[in-house]
Amino acid sequence: MTIDLAGLIDDRPEEGIFRVNRAIFREPDIFDLEIRHIFEGGWVFLGLASQAPAPHDFFTTEAGRVPILIMRDGEGQLRAFVNSCPHKGAQIAQMRAGNARMHVCPYHSWSFDSAGRNRGIKWQRAGCYAEAFDRSDHGLARLPHFEEYRGFLFGSLAADVPTLAQHLGGVARFLDFVVGQPEAGVELVPGAVAFTYDANWKLQLENCSDAYHFTSAHPSYIRIMERRQKGEGAVAVRSIWEQSQAWSESAEGVQGGSYSFEHGHVLNWGRIGVADSHPLYESAEAIAARHGEAGRDWVFNMRNLTIFPNLQIAENASSQLRVIQPLAPGRTLMRTWCLAPKGESAGARRQRIRQYEDFFNPSGMATPDDTVAYESCQRGHAGRVDPWLQGYARGMTASREGGNLLSDAIGASPIRSVLADSQLCDETLYHNYYREWARRMALAMEVGPA
Ligand code: FES
Ligand SMILES: [Fe+2]
Repeated sequence: MTIDLAGLIDDRPEEGIFRVNRAIFREPDIFDLEIRHIFEGGWVFLGLASQAPAPHDFFTTEAGRVPILIMRDGEGQLRAFVNSCPHKGAQIAQMRAGNARMHVCPYHSWSFDSAGRNRGIKWQRAGCYAEAFDRSDHGLARLPHFEEYRGFLFGSLAADVPTLAQHLGGVARFLDFVVGQPEAGVELVPGAVAFTYDANWKLQLENCSDAYHFTSAHPSYIRIMERRQKGEGAVAVRSIWEQSQAWSESAEGVQGGSYSFEHGHVLNWGRIGVADSHPLYESAEAIAARHGEAGRDWVFNMRNLTIFPNLQIAENASSQLRVIQPLAPGRTLMRTWCLAPKGESAGARRQRIRQYEDFFNPSGMATPDDTVAYESCQRGHAGRVDPWLQGYARGMTASREGGNLLSDAIGASPIRSVLADSQLCDETLYHNYYREWARRMALAMEVGPA
């Protein structure tokens, strides 16, 4: 391995310089290290507890390249396993989700219960096994770490990691506000969407935090929104953004900003206010009773949250949960869902879904614009003549250590923050991604390639 990883992120804050080398989006050796040491070597998001609500429910997902099976046992406990038979490795569960007291491996019929215990080895007595085989555990391999925070399930394939609370740190405060976090919890609206794009996973990572591209890359959405406001649209979907406003009560003219948290997590946000175009409008009082007025205001803000490295929750035009799965340096699989509070009224749910279809669906007016842009960037990253990208400089003189009065109001504790008007479009929040990326990759180089 001959990669000079330390030289690929040019991070010199005292000189006002932060640049990223295009190689990190392109090189297979770098990609292998990312998969092994970030996606398979630390905490990743695996799913929601509400994806397996009843005893014996299960769902499958991936951590890096590793297939994962999450099951709720007969007593209601959730556990996460590598979805691979201890006999010869076949995947035990073949479907994305279901309910099964017993899983029978399709290859040689070893069987496992919903707690992952081995319940049967075909023709065991006739098998002339040695004692050593009988003494060993034939159950499914559990993930070394698997924890839940407010219905969000995270796991790690590596044993040597901090606790989930340490990994999330200050960003956990913003999981408290996702779709208002009702007592009943959050759920995925039926109808998962999976799509691939031909570009690196970090382009999606960045785009969720990229306010700068919105008016440039999504003009069709903006024009249609304008026409609808004039009553010209054929479909009457109201946009939440119609009602955005400055946060004049507490910070004159502030329209948004960003927060950076330990371990690469970031939030960018914009002021909306308690707007009646928002599906949570009917729940505003209940939300204030649960979270306080400052918390309610945060629930109604547009918030794009990234929990490094693979979870993004975009609450802007509607509410979307995204899971990023890198497949190759230039290929990424996205799984996306509409995220909603359990128990919301039929009217609110309808509005949420209509707004979702408008903007987030692959057939909507935003997602294709973004993926086409990623693929365009990826082709451009083949260029080595000037390898340094300049897209990390906006906001350099606005970025402050620690939080501000708006994060203080809810007891959130970011490590850096920016307050912004609508045109600042902070790019310093990406620094947080790449400082964590560089830290993790430096650890990877210490350990060496697998
Ligand atoms: S691989 Fe599962 S029983 Fe053989
Ligand atoms: Fe976009």
